[in-house]
Amino acid sequence: MTDDRDALIDAARDAATRAYAPYSGFHVGAALLLKNGDVVTGANVENASYGLTLCAETVAVAKIVNEGWIGELAEVAIVGGRPDGDGLLGTDPVNPCGRCRQILNEAAERSQTDILVHCASGDGSTVQTYKLSELLPAAFGPKDLGLID
Ligand code: THU
Repeated sequence: MTDDRDALIDAARDAATRAYAPYSGFHVGAALLLKNGDVVTGANVENASYGLTLCAETVAVAKIVNEGWIGELAEVAIVGGRPDGDGLLGTDPVNPCGRCRQILNEAAERSQTDILVHCASGDGSTVQTYKLSELLPAAFGPKDLGLID
């Protein structure tokens, strides 16, 4: 479990190196573990029109949806921060924003699982693990629209 978790966090940290974040300088990587063990990643994509920014988690979920894997989500790791001169992201864990919690919930409900979300610091020293249901209690989702039981 810890090995899987740490590998997922490593994948998120690696994804953060591919962030396009010239405005905030804040690089975020998200790694989605699928039920078959595969890992799909995303990083934030900013825009000169700031409000159009795509968060790392959103990019990663869009990727699995487009591959037909929306029902395959098992677990998530998120890493982020402002890289220092050596590219290191720092000591604070990053929590998913509200919009990303909702977007993760879509895939989690479709995957019939209350996924774990590992929020890790760039240096790996701090990992806070939550159930998505803790991060987004009483969620509105596909169940509410009768898409799934
Ligand atoms: N960001 C994410 O990628 N995910 C989150 O959950 C929080 C925020 C990004 C958006 C923006 O590019 C940068 O972090 C600063 O807000």
